[in-house]
Order: sequence, then C-alpha cells, then structure tokens
Amino acid sequence: DPVLLTADHGAVRVLTVHRPDKLNALNAATLDALHQAFDTAASDPGVRAIVLTGSGPKAFVAGADIAEMNALSPVEGRDFSLRGQRMMRRVEKMPKPVIAMVNGFALGGGLELAMSCHLRIASDTAKVGQPEINLGLIPGFGGTQRLLRLAGRAATLELCLAGAPIDAARAMQLGIVNRVVPAAELEAQTMALADQLANAAPLALRGILDCINVGGECGIEEGLEYESAQFGLMFSTQDMREGTSAFLERRKPAFAGR
Ligand code: COA
Repeated sequence: DPVLLTADHGAVRVLTVHRPDKLNALNAATLDALHQAFDTAASDPGVRAIVLTGSGPKAFVAGADIAEMNALSPVEGRDFSLRGQRMMRRVEKMPKPVIAMVNGFALGGGLELAMSCHLRIASDTAKVGQPEINLGLIPGFGGTQRLLRLAGRAATLELCLAGAPIDAARAMQLGIVNRVVPAAELEAQTMALADQLANAAPLALRGILDCINVGGECGIEEGLEYESAQFGLMFSTQDMREGTSAFLERRKPAFAGR
C-alpha cells in the first residue's frame, strides 16, 4: 500500500499522505516518499501548483511516527530529524506554490509539514499544535524555527512549552493558517485557489517565492537588492510581455512559463 497518493487535476498535483490507520504519521518511508514526490513535481513542467493533504476524515498528519521513534538511538534520532528537515526545506524551497489543505489534526511533524508549505487552508474542524513536550521530546522537523518566524515568540513558546493543540480559529488569529473554511468546503476552496495559482505566470510565482525565501533570512538592503534583480529578470520573460499586453488589450492573459 503506497504511503503517498498522487493525482493530477489539470496542472494541480495533489499529494495525499496515505496512512489513515496511523493518522498519516510520518515514518521514514513517508518522509522519503514526500521528498521524492516534491523533487518530481518541481521538475515536471506540467505541474504548476501542488496541494498537500492527508488521507481520511480525521487527520492531515498527526505527527512524526511515535512507534518508529520509540526505539531510535541518539544518532538515529538526529538522522531522523535531519531527514524530516531536509524534506520540509525541499517543500519550502519549491519553485511552485504549495498549499497545505489541513483536513484535520496537524500535530508535531504535521504542523511542521504544513508550515513548510507556502499557504495553509484549514478546515474549521482542524486542530494544530506542537505536542512533542508530552512525549519528553522537542519539535525536530523545524517547528521551533518556522513557528517562530510565522507566529512570533509568544505563540511559539506557548504552543511548544504547553503542548496543547489549538483549534483552527485560534490558529487563524495567530497567523498560523491563511484561511479557515467549513469542512464541507475545504476541498472546493483549496482547489479553486490552486487552480488560480496554476493559471498565474509560473516564472513570476517563482520570483515571488524566491524573494520571500531569501528576504525572510537577510537584511532589508540585501532583500531589496534581490527583489530588484528578480524584478529585472521578469523583463526577459514572454509571460511579462503577455501579461502587460493582455492588460492593455483588455483580454485575459495566457501564461506559458517562458
Ligand atoms: N505516530 C504513530 N502513530 C500514531 C500517531 C503518531 N504521531 N498519531 C496517531 N497514531 C496512531 C495511534 O497509535 C493509533 O494506532 P492504533 O490504532 O494502531 O493503536 C491510530 O493512529 C489512531 O490514533 P488514536 O490515538 O487512536 O486516535 P484518537 O482519535 O483517539 O486521537 C490524536 C487522535 C491525534 C489526539 C492522537 O492520536 C495523538 O495524540 N497522536 C499523537 C500526536 C503527537 O503527539 N504528535 C507529535 C508526534 S512527535
């Protein structure tokens, strides 16, 4: 039984973590399958946006696999952390937009995975948190770092130290998710946004993702410089000529990613 399902809806690739009987917990095989799937999606010109979700009605991903971690040595624990971190960095640095469709529990490694995506749309039934403290552990797939950058110090300290999950409305207040929608509308609303992104100019999307990835980690001068360089680069693309011409000609643009 594959631990990851892949389906294409036009130019939108939907990746579904598929271990529903374990609430889609991330074991080593699933981390590797995800890494491979994102590599493949990155280089496939037919894929313009990616939606990541979990199988079943209950969970996005309920965390790293606790059964698998239980027996690890310190060296293996570090390797497991690095394996997850590398995969999630791969997601974060994807040249195409990635939307996490948070259809239920996103706990521990599940929230870390969702936070490595560019956008998060949560069902109103979702619960998110960093409960590792309850296992005598700490977040190991980037949770202390990404949550800090996403929601700030106070929220990160509260979620990681207290370990209690929060509901989707509170996650929205804290800026952890972009949107909260009724469970019955989650798929339609997520796919509508994914379709919109899949029809946008791919090289411009990539420029925005690059600027935000770089700018989030450097000073304002370097970030602005990088933005200008990326902005200038857009003038070498057919898509920029198409987009500006379509505006002037009062028609819809058709972007080809060139
Ligand atoms: N790792 C491994 N297995 C997990 C898991 C995880 N992170 N989360 C859930 N599962 C497994 C359970 O062991 C159970 O397996 P079993 O049926 O073989 O016993 C199955 O998934 C269903 O989970 P269950 O706990 O029975 O569901 P629930 O609805 O009662 O509770 C949660 C749901 C999410 C509250 C609960 O599963 C939970 O707390 N999970 C761990 C969350 C966590 O600490 N994540 C961080 C890990 S670092």
